[in-house]
Amino acid sequence: MPVTDDAYATPPEILLARRERVLERLGGGVLVLCSAPELLKSRDTDVRFRQDSDLFYLTGFMEPGAVAVLTPHDPERRLTLFVRPRDPERETWTGRREGVEGARERFAADAAYPVEELDQHLRALLEPADEVVYAFGTHPEMDQRILRLVTGFRRTRPRAGKGPLAVRDPDAVLAEMRLVKEPWELERMRRAGEISARGHLAALRAARPGIGEWELEAVLDAAFRSAGGRGSSYPTIVGSGANATVLHYVANDRRARDGELVLVDAGAEWGMYAGDITRTFPVSGRFTEAQRAVYEVVLAAEEAAIAAVRPGALFSDVHEAAVRVLTRGMVDLGLLTGDVDELIESEGYKPFYMHQTSHWLGLDVHDVGPYRRGGEWVRFEPGMVLTIEPGLYIAEDADVPEAFRGIGVRIEDDVAVTADGHEILTRGVPVAADEIERLVGSGG
Ligand code: GLY
Ligand code: MN
Ligand code: MN
Repeated sequence: MPVTDDAYATPPEILLARRERVLERLGGGVLVLCSAPELLKSRDTDVRFRQDSDLFYLTGFMEPGAVAVLTPHDPERRLTLFVRPRDPERETWTGRREGVEGARERFAADAAYPVEELDQHLRALLEPADEVVYAFGTHPEMDQRILRLVTGFRRTRPRAGKGPLAVRDPDAVLAEMRLVKEPWELERMRRAGEISARGHLAALRAARPGIGEWELEAVLDAAFRSAGGRGSSYPTIVGSGANATVLHYVANDRRARDGELVLVDAGAEWGMYAGDITRTFPVSGRFTEAQRAVYEVVLAAEEAAIAAVRPGALFSDVHEAAVRVLTRGMVDLGLLTGDVDELIESEGYKPFYMHQTSHWLGLDVHDVGPYRRGGEWVRFEPGMVLTIEPGLYIAEDADVPEAFRGIGVRIEDDVAVTADGHEILTRGVPVAADEIERLVGSGG
């Protein structure tokens, strides 16, 4: 599939519909969102910019340095965008800017100003509201500005008779909306899943004993980028041998040796949406008996967990299904001794399975959205998307039969909740042990 310019263009009617829903839910609040900060890589060089997911979700605006203000109390002016103004000299260096006109015309802002004028306008935009809906903690300058304004309102409110009384986190509104994906978003996520799978296929085919973990990472990157993605949606994990037992291993600087497993956890970002896949394979194309036995347990756990995904089921059902199969498997393999129910009750499985089975997936790889509401686990609804990623991690010095030491296996797929069950978005790359063996080192 070709790189398409529209990867980042959200249809205007979708943006407008989202804004209407947010405006409704804000009640008397005013929502303030900022572009993601520009991050320093080193000295005068920045990390490649990626837009803030909330700002992108509501405005489609892709530039740094912007502030969006949504004001439900003003029927004439519901979205105000503050943006970097056009600047031919700067644009020669860093590319075209939308400017104030672009913000109005192409992003349907009711009003737009150069971001330098923020202080002239923000007070008037906030004053009629009951509350300011803003996320503290990412933009120190903006945090100070909001604090100053809120403190000022405390002084003026008694006589002015207006001025927000509270500051509330946008998650209350936006995270709940983003948790349930629209059909248009599901299309994007299918594509992110497909491209992610393509990267894993390429890595499986390229694998051979002696290959550097970094080389496999490069193969994944090439597939993600050439499919039109912006690259990986999080730092790629390629763990060979016992590195596979380190959950967030990202050094990727070792060579895989004959006979070892390699765990690859990598996903493409496409059109701002994340894929997130893990496959574990024998670098020489044949599982040892112990490796295959562990692999089959993890795969059975993944299948049981995926089968638990359907509307009305609890988020916790997925983890419970995985833990049950994993724990039974650990007992059968001789990694644990005891009664399965008791081991589950006492979390006796934790030395070998210490993480959760799922997280929400979307614009962010660990996407927004609650897992519990008021102490109750969230129930699945069509449009929610989550990962299923059980694993078993046996440390090199674990007190288990020798053949199992240093084995790490995780299998991860992305699953959307549908009206009558689920859809797996990432099975463009196989998962059955025999198929994995056939693919490893097959070139292409
Ligand atoms: N690679 C991050 C995760 O699987 O959650
Ligand atoms: Mn992952
Ligand atoms: Mn994940």
